[in-house]
Amino acid sequence: MPEKLIDPYGRVINYLRLSVTEHCNLNCVYCRAGQEGSQVAIGKKFLTMEECIAIAEAAAELGMTRIRLTGGEPLVHPDILEIISRLSRISGIKDLSLSTNAVLLESMAFKLAKAGLKRINVSLDSLDENNYRRITGGGELSRTLKGIEKALQAGLIPVKINVVLYKGINDHEIGKFIERTLTEELDVRFIEYMPFLGIDNWQQHYFSLDKVRETATTIAPLVPIRGDHGGPAKYYRLEGAPGKIGFIPTLSRHICSVCNRFRVTPAATLKPCLFSADEIDLTPGFSDKEILKEKFREALKLKPDPKKVYSSPHERVKQFQTKRSMTQIGG
Ligand code: GTP
Ligand code: 5AD
Repeated sequence: MPEKLIDPYGRVINYLRLSVTEHCNLNCVYCRAGQEGSQVAIGKKFLTMEECIAIAEAAAELGMTRIRLTGGEPLVHPDILEIISRLSRISGIKDLSLSTNAVLLESMAFKLAKAGLKRINVSLDSLDENNYRRITGGGELSRTLKGIEKALQAGLIPVKINVVLYKGINDHEIGKFIERTLTEELDVRFIEYMPFLGIDNWQQHYFSLDKVRETATTIAPLVPIRGDHGGPAKYYRLEGAPGKIGFIPTLSRHICSVCNRFRVTPAATLKPCLFSADEIDLTPGFSDKEILKEKFREALKLKPDPKKVYSSPHERVKQFQTKRSMTQIGG
């Protein structure tokens, strides 16, 4: 029987998120929040191609089947196409995906598909040119939309759109996003903002997904899409619509019981949990795959007990123990 990674609470860990670089070509408001003056963890700022391959091979031998490349912005990694091409050839990896802001997607979509990428998730927090520029610290909406178009043409499907809700900044655009699912085959996912590195004023920016549900039902009845989607999102569609609406209630719901993930930071540390401060340095394992695999097994013991995770947003933010910013973890 091939080995599987199963944590002490019975969760099968089969999904690896590799944050290949902490660099990003945008400067979004929720990434900036809390970073000023904070002591962000130091360490390497990107994973090398060799490190990505070694980590992914070890993970695959341990039964992991899904890899997502994140960042920062993974498309600014100089070797990203080669990394994808090598990862796509690892036996056992069935789902190879990437989360991007789409700034570089127009020119790269076909190359990414050719290299072996299967699908993408795109951050898009506004459909208004000026608001988009404001949220992203200078980004061009038209460029991102062209990138999404090219990704669809290149067959990087499904394309999932990530909308992080930030109160007073983009919550007035919820209806516009929802309406797009009436005509386009896109998954639009609303995400509750998570306050990394700056929890003092989190309520000022927190926007509950319950209000998104209310807005959706004023447009048309919401029909649940059943099945295990293998992640934190729950999916619905407006009756008769081609596109889906996803809800990722990072603060308001208890989603840890279905967690199937490990994360690797650009500093080559393995993070067993998005919220906890625990990390395991993978560096000693690069000389020996068996050491690397042992680090993964060690990380299983550090997965927190899902029963001890509170579901109220207030209690949840107290659990943000991580010293790294979102760009260093990759979401
Ligand atoms: P797929 O379901 O494979 O398409 O990916 P995903 O939705 O997990 O990945 P993506 O990078 O698009 O992340 C979307 C949002 O979900 C981001 O805000 C992530 O921070 C959040 N997220 C991803 N995994 C977890 C998790 O394990 N726990 C929590 N609370 N949030 C997560
Ligand atoms: N809270 C919730 N989601 C976030 N993302 C980035 N920062 C945050 C945050 N503070 C999302 C973006 C990106 C995904 C990987 O993580 O939408 O698409």
